[in-house]
Amino acid sequence: MKSKRAEFFDDAVVSGPDQKAFEEKIYAEAQAKRWPRVAEGTGKFEGQVVIVTGAAGGQGEMEAKMIAQQGAKVYMADIEEEGLKRVEAAIIADGGEAVAFPMDVADEGSWQELVKKVVDESGRLDVLVNNAGMCQNGTVLTETRESLNRIMDVDCWGVYNGMHYCAPAIIEAGGGTIVNTCSYQGTHFGPGSFIGYAMAKAAVMGMTRAAATDLGTYGIRVNAVNPGLVLSGMTLPRGQNRKGLVDASSMKRYALPEEIASVVMFLASDDSSFINGEFIAADGGATTYLHLATADAK
Ligand SMILES: NC(=O)c1ccc[n+]([C@@H]2O[C@H](COP(=O)([O-])OP(=O)(O)OC[C@H]3O[C@@H](n4cnc5c(N)ncnc54)[C@H](O)[C@@H]3O)[C@@H](O)[C@H]2O)c1
Repeated sequence: MKSKRAEFFDDAVVSGPDQKAFEEKIYAEAQAKRWPRVAEGTGKFEGQVVIVTGAAGGQGEMEAKMIAQQGAKVYMADIEEEGLKRVEAAIIADGGEAVAFPMDVADEGSWQELVKKVVDESGRLDVLVNNAGMCQNGTVLTETRESLNRIMDVDCWGVYNGMHYCAPAIIEAGGGTIVNTCSYQGTHFGPGSFIGYAMAKAAVMGMTRAAATDLGTYGIRVNAVNPGLVLSGMTLPRGQNRKGLVDASSMKRYALPEEIASVVMFLASDDSSFINGEFIAADGGATTYLHLATADAK
């Protein structure tokens, strides 16, 4: 018998004229329903204070909602102020605690202000989820040092800034966790032409391991999730034919944001208490799947 999720994705429209409308509909439905992945009242993050970046939509929105549902006070950072306010209102309406903090993760001064506000208001910081990110098309032939500055500032330095400015506060709280968001495109490269993204995400993988080593003795675990294709604010507007990307994974589908958020929750919580400096791929098998033509493979 097929699972409900498998049945749902059997009917997914991954190319053709109806694709955009289909994807917008299921994304809106998934983000609007009550975040479903966590059993009620398990209180995994009870009494904890958490920062989630990029929480105005996509994966970060689900991460903020699901962590708040488990008892944490969640500070949400994003450049999209309107989206942040929407998520903040949804969490508060659900009985949770959330604070919107509009900022650019590339800006060091904003990080200092955020950490100060968190500690002044809430007295501690336990978890940092470095999820904010952007994507940019371009190849080694077309990109220049200058054209890569912004994506490196956001996707690479944004993550470094977060770890650098939050770690002292987490140490002060007696230890905690940091979860970074990399990508399957940090290690595997198709003809998608995203060299800046690949550079930044590979750097995040390296700094995850280095920071895990630096911070382990202070009781901070640093791990990362490597998502595959996820339906989110990043991928929806691209509206590209998803068939090739979907076919390149063994599960033949993309993820909804909640499916990555549940991995982030695992890494952020005590459920993963002896895991440090690791990456968990949540890519539907894309990076383990050798995609040979069917005839050749048989
Ligand atoms: N969607 C995918 O297929 C996919 C795959 C692998 C990895 N990722 C990564 O997952 C993370 C979340 O992306 P998503 O898929 O939810 O996309 P998304 O675009 O829905 O979310 C990214 C969020 O980051 C915010 N952001 C962008 N630049 C920022 C900045 N300078 N400062 C603060 N906030 C900023 C955006 O406003 C947005 O709310 C990103 O790091 C992305 O690179 C996404």
